[in-house]
Amino acid sequence: MKETINNLSVFTLGSSDSRAIIFVHGFPYDHNMWEAQIQELGKDCSCVSYDIRGLGDSPAGDGQFTMESFVDDLEIILDEQKLNKPILCGLSMGGYISLRALERMPERFSAAILCDTRSEADNNEGKLKRAAGIKRIIKEGLAPFVKDFITNCFGDDFKQNKNEELQKIIESSSRFNPVGVKGSLLAMLSRLDTTTSLGKINIPTLLICGEQDTLTPPPVMKEMFHKIIKAEFVEIPNAGHMTPIENPHLVNKAIRDFLIKNNL
Ligand code: MLT
Repeated sequence: MKETINNLSVFTLGSSDSRAIIFVHGFPYDHNMWEAQIQELGKDCSCVSYDIRGLGDSPAGDGQFTMESFVDDLEIILDEQKLNKPILCGLSMGGYISLRALERMPERFSAAILCDTRSEADNNEGKLKRAAGIKRIIKEGLAPFVKDFITNCFGDDFKQNKNEELQKIIESSSRFNPVGVKGSLLAMLSRLDTTTSLGKINIPTLLICGEQDTLTPPPVMKEMFHKIIKAEFVEIPNAGHMTPIENPHLVNKAIRDFLIKNNL
Protein backbone atom coordinates (compact mmCIF):
# COMPACT_ATOMS: atom_id res chain seq x y z
CA MET A 1 0.00 0.00 0.00
CA LYS A 2 1.25 3.49 -0.83
CA GLU A 3 0.51 6.50 1.34
CA THR A 4 1.83 10.00 1.85
CA ILE A 5 3.32 10.97 5.20
CA ASN A 6 4.82 14.44 5.68
CA ASN A 7 4.83 14.71 1.85
CA LEU A 8 6.94 11.54 1.52
CA SER A 9 5.90 8.43 -0.40
CA VAL A 10 5.66 5.56 2.10
CA PHE A 11 5.02 1.92 1.15
CA THR A 12 3.80 -0.86 3.43
CA LEU A 13 3.46 -4.61 2.92
CA GLY A 14 2.46 -7.33 5.38
CA SER A 15 0.27 -7.43 8.46
CA SER A 16 0.68 -4.52 10.89
CA ASP A 17 0.40 -7.03 13.83
CA SER A 18 3.72 -8.62 12.93
CA ARG A 19 7.27 -7.53 13.67
CA ALA A 20 8.01 -4.39 11.66
CA ILE A 21 11.09 -3.66 9.58
CA ILE A 22 11.68 -0.18 8.21
CA PHE A 23 13.92 0.01 5.15
CA VAL A 24 15.98 3.11 4.31
CA HIS A 25 17.46 3.13 0.81
CA GLY A 26 20.81 4.34 -0.53
CA PHE A 27 21.81 7.16 -2.89
CA PRO A 28 20.74 7.78 -5.67
CA TYR A 29 18.05 5.11 -5.45
CA ASP A 30 14.51 4.84 -4.09
CA HIS A 31 12.45 2.32 -2.09
CA ASN A 32 12.48 -0.11 -5.05
CA MET A 33 16.02 -1.16 -4.19
CA TRP A 34 14.53 -3.24 -1.33
CA GLU A 35 11.98 -5.03 -3.50
CA ALA A 36 13.50 -8.53 -3.18
CA GLN A 37 13.79 -8.21 0.63
CA ILE A 38 10.26 -6.85 1.02
CA GLN A 39 8.73 -9.58 -1.17
CA GLU A 40 10.41 -12.25 0.97
CA LEU A 41 10.16 -10.72 4.46
CA GLY A 42 6.68 -9.29 3.81
CA LYS A 43 5.39 -12.89 4.06
CA ASP A 44 5.61 -12.70 7.84
CA CYS A 45 6.88 -9.23 8.77
CA SER A 46 5.36 -5.80 8.39
CA CYS A 47 7.65 -4.06 5.90
CA VAL A 48 7.74 -0.28 5.63
CA SER A 49 9.86 1.51 3.04
CA TYR A 50 9.85 5.07 1.76
CA ASP A 51 11.45 7.40 -0.73
CA ILE A 52 13.89 9.69 1.04
CA ARG A 53 13.00 13.37 0.52
CA GLY A 54 14.11 14.53 -2.93
CA LEU A 55 14.59 11.01 -4.34
CA GLY A 56 12.12 8.68 -6.09
CA ASP A 57 8.58 9.96 -5.73
CA SER A 58 9.22 12.15 -2.68
CA PRO A 59 9.30 15.85 -3.58
CA ALA A 60 12.56 17.78 -3.42
CA GLY A 61 11.13 21.10 -2.25
CA ASP A 62 14.02 23.55 -1.95
CA GLY A 63 16.60 20.72 -1.69
CA GLN A 64 18.05 22.12 1.53
CA PHE A 65 18.57 18.78 3.26
CA THR A 66 20.75 17.70 6.17
CA MET A 67 21.24 14.22 7.61
CA GLU A 68 19.38 15.61 10.62
CA SER A 69 16.35 16.51 8.49
CA PHE A 70 16.43 12.99 6.98
CA VAL A 71 16.32 11.57 10.52
CA ASP A 72 13.43 13.94 11.36
CA ASP A 73 11.55 12.45 8.37
CA LEU A 74 12.27 8.91 9.59
CA GLU A 75 11.02 9.81 13.08
CA ILE A 76 7.77 11.22 11.68
CA ILE A 77 7.19 8.01 9.69
CA LEU A 78 7.79 5.91 12.85
CA ASP A 79 5.25 8.06 14.72
CA GLU A 80 2.63 8.19 11.98
CA GLN A 81 2.88 4.46 11.27
CA LYS A 82 2.82 3.77 15.03
CA LEU A 83 5.85 1.51 14.66
CA ASN A 84 6.72 0.01 18.02
CA LYS A 85 10.44 -0.73 18.11
CA PRO A 86 10.84 -1.83 14.51
CA ILE A 87 14.02 -3.31 13.08
CA LEU A 88 15.89 -0.53 11.28
CA CYS A 89 17.50 -1.55 7.99
CA GLY A 90 19.59 0.95 6.02
CA LEU A 91 22.02 0.78 3.12
CA SER A 92 24.86 3.25 2.61
CA MET A 93 23.20 6.71 2.80
CA GLY A 94 20.28 4.86 4.41
CA GLY A 95 22.93 3.53 6.80
CA TYR A 96 24.14 7.07 7.59
CA ILE A 97 20.53 7.98 8.41
CA SER A 98 20.16 4.79 10.46
CA LEU A 99 23.39 5.33 12.41
CA ARG A 100 22.39 8.88 13.31
CA ALA A 101 18.88 7.69 14.23
CA LEU A 102 20.40 5.00 16.50
CA GLU A 103 22.55 7.70 18.13
CA ARG A 104 19.69 10.19 18.50
CA MET A 105 16.80 7.90 19.46
CA PRO A 106 18.18 4.44 20.37
CA GLU A 107 15.06 3.53 22.35
CA ARG A 108 12.96 3.51 19.16
CA PHE A 109 14.49 0.32 17.63
CA SER A 110 14.73 -3.36 18.59
CA ALA A 111 17.48 -4.34 16.14
CA ALA A 112 19.47 -2.92 13.25
CA ILE A 113 20.65 -4.13 9.87
CA LEU A 114 23.41 -2.01 8.37
CA CYS A 115 24.29 -2.77 4.76
CA ASP A 116 27.31 -1.43 2.89
CA THR A 117 27.72 1.71 4.96
CA ARG A 118 30.21 3.48 7.23
CA SER A 119 30.14 5.55 10.42
CA GLU A 120 32.88 8.02 9.41
CA ALA A 121 31.93 11.38 7.97
CA ASP A 122 33.36 12.42 4.60
CA ASN A 123 37.02 13.45 4.71
CA ASN A 124 38.21 16.48 2.70
CA GLU A 125 38.73 14.39 -0.44
CA GLY A 126 35.21 12.98 -0.08
CA LYS A 127 33.71 16.44 0.40
CA LEU A 128 35.47 17.71 -2.73
CA LYS A 129 34.10 14.73 -4.68
CA ARG A 130 30.56 15.63 -3.58
CA ALA A 131 31.17 19.25 -4.61
CA ALA A 132 32.44 18.07 -8.01
CA GLY A 133 29.31 15.91 -8.35
CA ILE A 134 27.05 18.91 -7.70
CA LYS A 135 29.02 21.01 -10.19
CA ARG A 136 28.73 18.25 -12.80
CA ILE A 137 24.95 17.96 -12.35
CA ILE A 138 24.59 21.74 -12.77
CA LYS A 139 26.75 21.68 -15.90
CA GLU A 140 25.72 18.44 -17.64
CA GLY A 141 22.33 17.58 -16.15
CA LEU A 142 21.63 14.57 -13.94
CA ALA A 143 21.98 11.60 -16.32
CA PRO A 144 25.80 11.44 -16.80
CA PHE A 145 26.41 11.78 -13.05
CA VAL A 146 23.85 9.10 -12.20
CA LYS A 147 25.19 6.71 -14.85
CA ASP A 148 28.77 6.90 -13.56
CA PHE A 149 27.81 6.87 -9.88
CA ILE A 150 25.49 3.86 -10.14
CA THR A 151 27.80 1.87 -12.45
CA ASN A 152 30.55 2.31 -9.87
CA CYS A 153 28.30 0.90 -7.13
CA PHE A 154 27.90 -2.55 -8.68
CA GLY A 155 30.30 -5.50 -8.73
CA ASP A 156 31.67 -7.08 -11.94
CA ASP A 157 29.30 -10.07 -11.86
CA PHE A 158 26.19 -7.91 -11.89
CA LYS A 159 27.58 -5.54 -14.51
CA GLN A 160 28.42 -8.43 -16.83
CA ASN A 161 25.40 -10.69 -16.29
CA LYS A 162 22.58 -8.29 -15.35
CA ASN A 163 23.35 -5.34 -17.58
CA GLU A 164 19.69 -4.87 -18.58
CA GLU A 165 18.65 -4.62 -14.92
CA LEU A 166 21.48 -2.17 -14.29
CA GLN A 167 20.40 0.05 -17.21
CA LYS A 168 16.82 0.11 -15.88
CA ILE A 169 18.04 1.28 -12.47
CA ILE A 170 20.17 3.99 -14.12
CA GLU A 171 17.23 5.13 -16.28
CA SER A 172 14.91 5.27 -13.30
CA SER A 173 17.34 7.32 -11.15
CA SER A 174 18.11 9.63 -14.09
CA ARG A 175 14.48 10.77 -13.90
CA PHE A 176 14.85 12.01 -10.29
CA ASN A 177 14.68 15.72 -9.56
CA PRO A 178 18.27 17.10 -9.78
CA VAL A 179 17.44 19.45 -6.89
CA GLY A 180 16.81 16.43 -4.66
CA VAL A 181 19.96 14.61 -5.78
CA LYS A 182 22.12 17.69 -5.15
CA GLY A 183 20.40 18.11 -1.77
CA SER A 184 21.30 14.53 -0.79
CA LEU A 185 24.92 15.15 -1.79
CA LEU A 186 24.99 18.21 0.48
CA ALA A 187 23.39 16.25 3.33
CA MET A 188 26.02 13.48 3.02
CA LEU A 189 28.85 16.04 2.72
CA SER A 190 27.82 17.75 5.95
CA ARG A 191 26.87 14.68 8.01
CA LEU A 192 28.29 13.97 11.46
CA ASP A 193 30.70 11.17 12.27
CA THR A 194 28.86 8.52 14.31
CA THR A 195 31.89 6.31 15.07
CA THR A 196 32.09 7.20 18.77
CA SER A 197 28.47 6.07 19.25
CA LEU A 198 28.98 2.59 17.79
CA GLY A 199 29.97 1.25 21.22
CA LYS A 200 26.64 2.45 22.61
CA ILE A 201 24.51 0.47 20.14
CA ASN A 202 23.12 -2.19 22.42
CA ILE A 203 20.64 -4.03 20.19
CA PRO A 204 21.27 -7.00 17.90
CA THR A 205 22.94 -5.58 14.81
CA LEU A 206 23.65 -7.31 11.53
CA LEU A 207 26.30 -5.85 9.25
CA ILE A 208 26.20 -6.91 5.61
CA CYS A 209 28.91 -6.03 3.08
CA GLY A 210 29.61 -6.99 -0.52
CA GLU A 211 32.96 -8.67 -1.06
CA GLN A 212 33.70 -6.28 -3.97
CA ASP A 213 32.24 -3.14 -2.38
CA THR A 214 34.71 -0.36 -3.20
CA LEU A 215 32.70 2.46 -1.57
CA THR A 216 32.36 0.91 1.88
CA PRO A 217 34.69 -2.11 1.65
CA PRO A 218 34.65 -5.10 4.03
CA PRO A 219 37.61 -3.87 6.19
CA VAL A 220 35.68 -0.63 6.91
CA MET A 221 32.57 -2.54 7.94
CA LYS A 222 34.59 -5.04 9.97
CA GLU A 223 35.92 -2.12 12.05
CA MET A 224 32.32 -1.14 12.79
CA PHE A 225 31.50 -4.76 13.60
CA HIS A 226 34.27 -4.86 16.23
CA LYS A 227 32.89 -1.72 17.92
CA ILE A 228 29.22 -2.74 18.18
CA ILE A 229 28.39 -4.90 21.20
CA LYS A 230 25.92 -7.41 19.74
CA ALA A 231 27.05 -7.41 16.14
CA GLU A 232 27.23 -10.04 13.42
CA PHE A 233 29.06 -9.59 10.13
CA VAL A 234 28.15 -11.27 6.85
CA GLU A 235 30.18 -10.80 3.68
CA ILE A 236 28.29 -11.36 0.42
CA PRO A 237 30.49 -12.99 -2.25
CA ASN A 238 30.59 -11.64 -5.83
CA ALA A 239 28.72 -8.49 -4.88
CA GLY A 240 29.67 -4.81 -4.83
CA HIS A 241 28.02 -1.99 -2.89
CA MET A 242 24.40 -2.87 -3.73
CA THR A 243 24.18 -6.28 -2.04
CA PRO A 244 20.34 -6.40 -1.67
CA ILE A 245 20.01 -6.05 -5.47
CA GLU A 246 23.13 -7.96 -6.49
CA ASN A 247 22.61 -11.07 -4.38
CA PRO A 248 19.09 -10.90 -2.94
CA HIS A 249 19.03 -14.59 -1.98
CA LEU A 250 22.09 -14.43 0.26
CA VAL A 251 21.05 -11.08 1.74
CA ASN A 252 17.55 -12.43 2.49
CA LYS A 253 19.07 -15.54 4.04
CA ALA A 254 21.41 -13.45 6.20
CA ILE A 255 18.47 -11.36 7.42
CA ARG A 256 16.27 -14.44 8.05
CA ASP A 257 19.06 -16.18 10.01
CA PHE A 258 19.61 -12.99 12.03
CA LEU A 259 15.88 -12.68 12.86
CA ILE A 260 15.65 -16.33 13.94
CA LYS A 261 18.87 -16.27 15.98
CA ASN A 262 17.74 -13.18 17.88
CA ASN A 263 14.09 -14.22 18.31
CA LEU A 264 12.94 -11.17 16.38
C1 MLT B 1 24.92 5.21 -1.28
O1 MLT B 1 24.88 4.11 -1.83
O2 MLT B 1 23.99 5.60 -0.56
C2 MLT B 1 26.09 6.12 -1.54
O3 MLT B 1 27.12 5.40 -2.15
C3 MLT B 1 26.57 6.77 -0.29
C4 MLT B 1 27.71 7.70 -0.51
O4 MLT B 1 27.90 8.22 -1.61
O5 MLT B 1 28.44 7.96 0.46
